[in-house]
Amino acid sequence: MATNNYSLQTTKVRQKPILHVEVRVKSDGDNVIIRTDIIREDVTKWLIDNFAILSLGQELHTLESDLKEPHAQVLESIKVAECTYGEIESGAYHLENVELDVQAYQLRVPTESQCPQQNQNVGEQEKNEIDGPQARIIPLPSKEFDGIWESLLFDQPIPSSLLRAITHMVLLSTRGLDTWVINWNRLILLWGPPGTGKTSLCRGLAQKLAIRLGKHFPRSKLVEIQTHSLGSKFFSESGKLVSKMFETIEAMLLEEEDTFVCVFIDEVETITARREQTIIGNEPLDAMRAVNTLLTALDRLRHHINIIVLCTSNLISALVSPNRLIIYDVFQDNAFIDRIDIKQFIPHPNATVIYEIYKSCFENLSKCGVIEGLTFDVIQLNPQDPETPLQYIEHPADRLILPSYDEMLIGYQIFPDSIPKQLADVASASVGLSGRCLRRLPALSLALHTQNTRCRIHDALTALHQGVTEEQHAKTETEALGGSVK
Ligand SMILES: Nc1ncnc2c1ncn2[C@@H]1O[C@H](COP(=O)(O)OP(=O)(O)O)[C@@H](O)[C@H]1O
Ligand SMILES: [Mg+2]
Repeated sequence: MATNNYSLQTTKVRQKPILHVEVRVKSDGDNVIIRTDIIREDVTKWLIDNFAILSLGQELHTLESDLKEPHAQVLESIKVAECTYGEIESGAYHLENVELDVQAYQLRVPTESQCPQQNQNVGEQEKNEIDGPQARIIPLPSKEFDGIWESLLFDQPIPSSLLRAITHMVLLSTRGLDTWVINWNRLILLWGPPGTGKTSLCRGLAQKLAIRLGKHFPRSKLVEIQTHSLGSKFFSESGKLVSKMFETIEAMLLEEEDTFVCVFIDEVETITARREQTIIGNEPLDAMRAVNTLLTALDRLRHHINIIVLCTSNLISALVSPNRLIIYDVFQDNAFIDRIDIKQFIPHPNATVIYEIYKSCFENLSKCGVIEGLTFDVIQLNPQDPETPLQYIEHPADRLILPSYDEMLIGYQIFPDSIPKQLADVASASVGLSGRCLRRLPALSLALHTQNTRCRIHDALTALHQGVTEEQHAKTETEALGGSVK
């Protein structure tokens, strides 16, 4: 993993850890704006008056009488999301030892009247000359990205470290730093093999940043640049397109100073690596112009405090050396790399994470009635006598509930035929597969290798085992042919 020296310095500066509580306000689709600042104050007061301890992940429920009308009726959920700069590992916090940071937000849905105008904003001038718009503007926090953050699992706390570091970066930028003296771009690159969750993590980060920075920026937007539409077919135009697009973004930043803008360039090598390709090909000048325009645009954007730029790169060379960033070869020179402030390698999931991904897939399949409900336990053969051997048991239930990986280690590992242990075995056999592949295999294996529309977890696991074996086989064959599996 790339070293994260950006998030280490902060612990000593703060007096108290900050406990972040997310308050979701109902949104009925018509984007009626509610005064979230007042709700924030109300909920903060209510928490201080009613709770001594809060735990991470805890969902709190208010009675209508708890909060001032009309606020009680508009709340959808109150959740203890995260603690930053805390040293307590238990996950339970005394309110007197923390600073409460209540964030109130509404999920946004682009209204129909907004959509055409948005597409016009960026790249509209070129509409007749290209296949589609070069960028998509999404108001944040967006209904479309709800749940993305929670669905991504890693063995290291990569998402929360990035969220902390970027939030801190943006907040520092709002302190009036001289951008000629402090030369950072607020440019973040997630890199690694395909299917590891980079695109999803960028969207999730944008969503979380919009919520967390809501106090400072009442509005947020994600500008997703469609790098593929900038390149391929009309490549001779790409320098011009990149330039126009960034001019529009810059105009937006100037116009809406209190809007936080997250620019997202997915698979950035699509733009930047072209320089290398076309020096060999026929159009060196325009290719270099596209890259140079991007670099110049980044240099200009950094003077605005209300922007960050998130990029991803799928460069497979990461597989060769996960500890070192060796994308210099592909980008040809380090003009782009040199501008990146945070470079984060995103790895394939390990066996523990794979277990949790499979668990969430099977539990969801059970929730939808595809897999029969079952719960698991390990008990003393004679509950009265602790000397008697342990016994593994399965209870029929409404829903399938699998133990967590840690519970599996403690209770079930000694029973080789138990479902949790078998799931752990399939997870171990799946190491090396991408997150994208892992998230589809449980359902895909059912479709391919079982007959009935409803089955037992035992059959689903057998099917998954077969699916994993086939997938690993296909991967080995593709790699032997010199390719990479996406
Ligand atoms: N670490 C992960 N945890 C859970 N799901 C993952 C993970 N990585 C990838 N996925 C799944 O794969 C899908 C595709 O991931 P994506 O963000 O497109 O990967 P990338 O951009 O790295 O190719 C995600 O929507 C998610 O369902
Ligand atoms: Mg991607």
